[in-house]
Amino acid sequence: MKNSIRKITIGKPIHTDAVVAKLTAEKGKIPYLKREDKSFIYKLGTEDRIYGLGENVRGINKRGWIYESNCADQPNHTESQHSLYGAHNFFVIDGKERFGVFLDYPGKLTLDMGYTRMDEVRITPEDWNMDVYIIEGKEVLDIVKAFRTLIGRSYIPPKWAFGYGQSRWGYQSEDDIRKVVKGYRDNDIPIDSVYMDIDYMERFKDFTVNEETFPDFPKFVTEMEKEHIHLVPIIDAGVKIEKGYETYEEGVEKGYFCKEKDGTDFVGAVWPGRVHFPDFLNKDARKWFGKQYKFLLDQGIEGFWNDMNEPSIFYSEKNLEAVMKKIQKMDNRDMDMWEVFGFRDMVNGLANNPEDYKSFYHDMDGTKVRHDKVHNLYGYNMTRAAGEAFEELCPDKRILIFSRSSYIGMHRYGGTWMGDNQSWWSHLLLNLQMLPSLNMCGFLYTGADLGGFGADTTEDLVLRWLELGIFTPLMRNHAALGTREQEAYQFTNKEAFKNIIGIRYGLMPYLYSEYMKAALRDEMLFVPLAFAYPGDKYAQQTEDQLLLGESIMIAPVYTQNATGRYVYLPEKMKLVRMKSMKDIKTEVLEKGHYYIDVALDEVVFFIRPEKIVPYTMGGQFLEEAEKQELKTLHFVTDKAEYELYEDEGYEKDYENPNHYKTIKVEV
Ligand code: GLC
Repeated sequence: MKNSIRKITIGKPIHTDAVVAKLTAEKGKIPYLKREDKSFIYKLGTEDRIYGLGENVRGINKRGWIYESNCADQPNHTESQHSLYGAHNFFVIDGKERFGVFLDYPGKLTLDMGYTRMDEVRITPEDWNMDVYIIEGKEVLDIVKAFRTLIGRSYIPPKWAFGYGQSRWGYQSEDDIRKVVKGYRDNDIPIDSVYMDIDYMERFKDFTVNEETFPDFPKFVTEMEKEHIHLVPIIDAGVKIEKGYETYEEGVEKGYFCKEKDGTDFVGAVWPGRVHFPDFLNKDARKWFGKQYKFLLDQGIEGFWNDMNEPSIFYSEKNLEAVMKKIQKMDNRDMDMWEVFGFRDMVNGLANNPEDYKSFYHDMDGTKVRHDKVHNLYGYNMTRAAGEAFEELCPDKRILIFSRSSYIGMHRYGGTWMGDNQSWWSHLLLNLQMLPSLNMCGFLYTGADLGGFGADTTEDLVLRWLELGIFTPLMRNHAALGTREQEAYQFTNKEAFKNIIGIRYGLMPYLYSEYMKAALRDEMLFVPLAFAYPGDKYAQQTEDQLLLGESIMIAPVYTQNATGRYVYLPEKMKLVRMKSMKDIKTEVLEKGHYYIDVALDEVVFFIRPEKIVPYTMGGQFLEEAEKQELKTLHFVTDKAEYELYEDEGYEKDYENPNHYKTIKVEV
């Protein structure tokens, strides 16, 4: 079967720029989906599987739950949630029929994937203005590739952003950061970057640096550079309302903030207190906001993370006022159960209130658009503001950027991290399961807060999580204010941390090469076994193993106190057991089911038949690792080749044929 993509336009869709390919829209009936009253319906066969939906809770097969595309600041990543930070409306049905669906619709969309009725998909938008793309192909991977070609090439970060990074909400000063770097360097644990959370700013004002705690910031950036450390500051969506603060004054003067119906600037609140939200959907405002990053680029910064851009609203000025009035009336009351519940809901309802999202407006090419109609484009366009500005300010240089909120289309401008997870074992598994779904939607540069963001972590959880994290493009340990310190050097078994993170650096030639090839060819980096071994019923049901690139399969341990795990081998493979880059053991295993021992200080993965994994002995930071001699691990019985992609990692001449080398192995 040939790939085919059909575009059907319904009503008057709002342009999202998610799609880059030019397709002529058809009118009329949509294949596969039946329109019934307020919804699209698709009847599921008992064996049908549903894949995709990007950043979401639950498994790789998304069937059996109701999801909502509605970007949300949602730190509780439990099974009962319906949305997280991203809105990624692409999925594939694989079963009696096989096709992909992309609903290019920026408002709230309900995706009932066999929840209300187990045999039915029911998709409900809030209005009927959208582009629907139906993609057919022989296998799931063909459909995904066709979709990825439609939406354009995924973002490519600088190579150093593949190194390990340490983050924590609460590093207050230069000295706090120096201490972290020293902790790593003194213990020979490799590291390339330290992230700067909101505390580096002057009272949480974007594009400022606290001069008391960072008295000479450019000098500090240079000092860190000498240590081979990149500093990566956070940028939040809300701009503090404060007289004399340049970004605020300029934004107000130019009319670049989101507006109330009456044209006044909408007032919400986030970390700094009251803020205005830049209108990223207004081209000029986007350009203006993007230029603000120059303040930090000029001081030597080469990477950023964009946060709170759903946008997260702690409260709006007008809603707070109304709630306060009600509370005053309640003074000294003898509240019964219902009143207490009502009181609690009222106070909790101040944050991210749907009514607030309906009360402010964007200026999209001169048209006033109510926020909730385009809610899911907000974080996307914040990151696009940065990406477009980087293109202009430093066209030849790759800048690291990733965002919390996203929509398909943003994958061209930046990566995304999986937001505020918890130090829970179940979130280690969730991290693994989100990877392929995000890849399907174009997001390749991604990863979760390793060790867990909220709640106190444990040493074994951090180790096990790193054993997955060494394979994810974004490899960052991040934790919330007030939680247990979880930098790798804080724990007893430092040798294990050093070796495991060291393995990331050793495997870098393979990991980088596979990332680049996946990005340049619109392919997935993490592939569920179900996609690669169609027709294999065990592969179809494997929810805790993934293929990573062409050569390897990963199967991390994700339960506490386990000394190993069950692994399914869909074909004969070579098991690789690493305690460090110097201690590697291998063993060939036939296709089948196994219990594999994996000690806490070991990394285990599998090489597919006739495949090669290039590696080096690694180093303390990426540049050092790059200088090492290239070796290979392989499972070759006769001869095989590996296409290695290698470049300097800073520039953008991706297509240069000199970046490709062929590694040949003959036994
Ligand atoms: C948000 C982010 C988190 C960050 C915190 C403080 O919760 O998701 O990563 O640490 O804000 O900036």
